Amino acid sequence: MIQISEKAKNVSASVTLEISALAKQMKADGKEVIGFTAGEPDFDTPEYVTQAAKDALDKGYTKYTPTAGIAELRNAVAKKFEKDNGLFYKPSQIVVTDGAKSALFHALYAVVSEGDEVIVPSPYWITYTEQIKLCGGVPVIVETSEKSGYKLLKSDFERAITAKTKCVIINSPCNPTGAVYSESELRDIAEVAEKHGLTIISDEIYEKLVFDGEKHVSVASLSDYAKENTVIINGVSKTYSMTGWRIGYLAAPENVAKAISSMQGHTTSNACTFAQYASVCALESGKGEDFIRYMVGEFDSRRNLLCDLLSETDGIKFLKPKGAFYVFADVSRFYGKSADGEKIEGSVGFAKALLKKGVAVIPGKAFGADNCVRLAYTVSKADIVRGAELIKAFVSSLKAE
Ligand SMILES: Cc1ncc(COP(=O)(O)O)c(C=O)c1O
Repeated sequence: MIQISEKAKNVSASVTLEISALAKQMKADGKEVIGFTAGEPDFDTPEYVTQAAKDALDKGYTKYTPTAGIAELRNAVAKKFEKDNGLFYKPSQIVVTDGAKSALFHALYAVVSEGDEVIVPSPYWITYTEQIKLCGGVPVIVETSEKSGYKLLKSDFERAITAKTKCVIINSPCNPTGAVYSESELRDIAEVAEKHGLTIISDEIYEKLVFDGEKHVSVASLSDYAKENTVIINGVSKTYSMTGWRIGYLAAPENVAKAISSMQGHTTSNACTFAQYASVCALESGKGEDFIRYMVGEFDSRRNLLCDLLSETDGIKFLKPKGAFYVFADVSRFYGKSADGEKIEGSVGFAKALLKKGVAVIPGKAFGADNCVRLAYTVSKADIVRGAELIKAFVSSLKAE
């Protein structure tokens, strides 16, 4: 039998897989399931982008590209940073990757040495902790609370720093909480990072998905230190509903971008060629703004609908999200109660019991917060209404032990 390496063994299996597999089985059995689980927009990729991919294929853009990406895309990304974030990067500081997930992995691999600590505010996107471990680092989880809007406080950040701390991961807008850091909150983070000489990894994949007049700010834009010590992770997946195209990108100081590009030459070679050409069009065409406006408008009204309906359900607590497309709801009031004679234990138990009633949600345990479940409003309004109805009926049917 092949022995699995220590690093691979250390990676946790996805808590969400079991729920997803059960939901799939129920659907296959012809049962009704409202799925609040998908972490991707349910809109089609805009037609102008798919057309650009077809054109690229017709032109024969089907061979390898430079490892860091085609010049046209690195230029388009550099322009995006200037226009949207007030940040000036040379194209040589941009690396195009296979989705933002790959950008994150390569960034961590480039900066984290064996035993380095990486601060991760919780609730967090599960991939952070697992990738840190794969890179030989040690995730240091710092709890945030509803009181701080699920954002990392300066004092908590500072308290978590040790001689081994190498970097901090900031994710604004946040998956799973929908929290959006303000400029002054990010200034606090940048100041602490500077004081302790830390690297910042800023995951800005949801930057365009903000509501209620919130403004996305990139921490890298807040000081010279922040610019020189931040790796920004972003991509086209969520902004243009292009999750399957696998195009992410990062911006970093030149030496880091160079190291990542060299690494990528041995890991993936380059991101998909014709998807890179389509991404140039996604970023540069004026049609992109129209698509984003439409999608954000839709998400905003779904968010309002879901939040209104959930707030009518006794015992469910949540902060109305300001960004991304998730509601992170505290359902711990129902733990210890029983559903159909079975005691609900933690977020996995809650999610499994709710699934039997036809609603799939992701247990908060997957994000380091077992008191909550995550609902993605990447579904139609009709499904939101039906799903909320089923949730209400489910929680009111629960019996005290
Ligand atoms: C916070 C966060 N970062 C990065 C990603 C990865 O994006 P991509 O699909 O471009 O790899 C996701 C996807 O769910 C995410 O939620």
